[in-house]
Amino acid sequence: MSDDRPGSNPAIRPTPPRLSVEIVTLFPEVFTSFLQASLLGKAVASGLIAVEMTNPRDFAPGRHRQVDDSPYGGGPGMVLRPDPVAAAIDDAENRRGRAHRLLLSPSGRLFDQKWAADLAARGRIMLVCGRYEGVDERIAELYADESVSIGDYVLSGGEVAAAVVIEATARLVPGVLGCGESVVEESFSAGRLEFPQWTRPPVFRGLGVPEVLLSGDHAEVARWRRREALRRTLSRRPDLIGLHPLTEEERAMLAELEGT
Ligand code: 6GU
Repeated sequence: MSDDRPGSNPAIRPTPPRLSVEIVTLFPEVFTSFLQASLLGKAVASGLIAVEMTNPRDFAPGRHRQVDDSPYGGGPGMVLRPDPVAAAIDDAENRRGRAHRLLLSPSGRLFDQKWAADLAARGRIMLVCGRYEGVDERIAELYADESVSIGDYVLSGGEVAAAVVIEATARLVPGVLGCGESVVEESFSAGRLEFPQWTRPPVFRGLGVPEVLLSGDHAEVARWRRREALRRTLSRRPDLIGLHPLTEEERAMLAELEGT
């Protein structure tokens, strides 16, 4: 529905955000410059994407507002208590409504582009960031719709991982990217690494640019790029070939590449 109908003054009834993001974090300052920069910053400033932060520390009991405690069963490090995290989640949702809740955890399911597209389509998501050695398991059990990891390495907290999820998701929201073609282009080449790119100057420290890219032959350029994307994928990410099998054209290209 358009917003220029008679009687719908957007100054009175503003367009709702296309994506609303709730962040539950002990370190909201980690997100401030990230959410202001570049295309994401513009989307947030324009109201296309709404971001709200809630700090479990504000819901922690006692004069010391302690959010962590030692693990039952012993061992090093501290565990985030469930009660301040639960209270933060409840407060955010009581104010602004239910969200699809993601717990950031190195034990979560591996995040990927397909998952980002799913989140972009949900319209309202919550990212719950852990810190210390972990979060009391009852948060995963009672509150999380899904647990998400961004890769096989350990971060000290979920904040940077949440930023990764937000950026990958936000850029799939219509109107966020400067150039509308980019996302279509990416999904077209799904399952392959991006082809290499060059821009001016034509010679940099003795290195030129592949001739074909200067030829003006668009069909030849497109074919060359598909071949270079395949070359890179075979050498750096052979696992992707298994997930997205070779096309007929790629089989022919593979024969060419083996000759080079
Ligand atoms: Cl989501 N959290 C932490 N702490 N470490 C990670 C991660 C998340 N994903 C990969 N490593």
